[in-house]
Amino acid sequence: MERISEVEKKYVMEALDNGFETSKNSFFNTRLETEFAKRFNSRYAIGHCNGTATLHVALLACGVQPGDEVIVPALTMSSTSIPVVLCGAIPVFADSDIETFEISAESIEKCITERTKAVITVSLYGLAPDYDAILEICKKHNLYLIEDNAECFLGEYKGKLVGEFGDFSSFSFQASKHMTAGEGGMLTTNSLELADKARRLNCLGYAGVNASQGKITRNDIQDPNYSRHVSFGYNYRMSELQAACALGQLERLNELVDNRVAVAKIFDEVLLNQNLLKRQVEPDGYKNSYWSYSMVLNTENPDDDWYRFRDLFQKNGGDGYYAAWKLSYNEPAYQDILQKQEGVWQTYNAELCPNAEYLQKRMIQLKTNYWDLDEARKQAEILDKTIREFR
Ligand SMILES: Cc1ncc(COP(=O)(O)O)c(C=O)c1O
Repeated sequence: MERISEVEKKYVMEALDNGFETSKNSFFNTRLETEFAKRFNSRYAIGHCNGTATLHVALLACGVQPGDEVIVPALTMSSTSIPVVLCGAIPVFADSDIETFEISAESIEKCITERTKAVITVSLYGLAPDYDAILEICKKHNLYLIEDNAECFLGEYKGKLVGEFGDFSSFSFQASKHMTAGEGGMLTTNSLELADKARRLNCLGYAGVNASQGKITRNDIQDPNYSRHVSFGYNYRMSELQAACALGQLERLNELVDNRVAVAKIFDEVLLNQNLLKRQVEPDGYKNSYWSYSMVLNTENPDDDWYRFRDLFQKNGGDGYYAAWKLSYNEPAYQDILQKQEGVWQTYNAELCPNAEYLQKRMIQLKTNYWDLDEARKQAEILDKTIREFR
């Protein structure tokens, strides 16, 4: 299977042949947004330049302001919490569930204060967090829920698609993601009010854009008295080339996701009869979309063993694998800048999120984007050999 097929190439060429004429320019953007909203059972979809911009816009549209607090997982890419900081708000870090690696509902509840305005959940590595419990907490405390689904396309939770739970759901089309346009992002919502706000924030605060219209018309701007700005905003729009490529990927999304799931099943076979590696648990009723195949090294000495296992895997011909990002609050910017900021009440040390600390040191993530399954089978054999040889 090809990562980028003739379909994407055809659409990108069509976009180029349109010559970026303003009147035709939003053709692929509108098509992508319409089809994306349909596919994810959402009323509105708004294209963005990337998945960090989507989160920034979602927070601002929910009214997050300086001094507000937003609960985020500690174990995730820092793109989840950086937009909170950019709003002048305070990210409050919640711990992970030790089995699923996802943000723990119990920990979210402990992070709530009178300043909490929203929760950002992440469907980490392609698996949903426990939405029943999380929605109950959000409802009880009147909090906005923003889903960060950069790593989860077509994952499911109890019969619903991941992306159907939050006030907003955010997706990324960055190069490693299930569907890609090199870069890009999509924000979905069922609320007309939130969608209108999000579009204006995404598009310089323009008066002439709204939930389903991403461009101001020529008629409007051919008037010297036209007032463009009813508010302020960023310029976070998606380009038409991104939209054309993403539309092709969206049409092929089932096969792109199925391929990653098939790769994960191949790795599953290796993990059956051993206890050195413990895979991310997929509870009943959940469907993992496997952005990566994630597991932890079952060791009391991760500082040495993580590197020893990686070196042996590579020596045996393995592709190399990813480590988990540092927990966000352990990154220098958070330790040196955020920790000192007024209003930050959490102490950024190893006791803050013990499960996330445990997991992060031991995490091994195999890539699942093998477009030739024989390549994945070869990697699985190497993994098996490495497990047997590791002492
Ligand atoms: C969990 C998570 N959130 C947000 C992002 C940000 O997306 P983007 O790179 O499109 O800004 C990423 C990955 O890139 C991610 O993995």
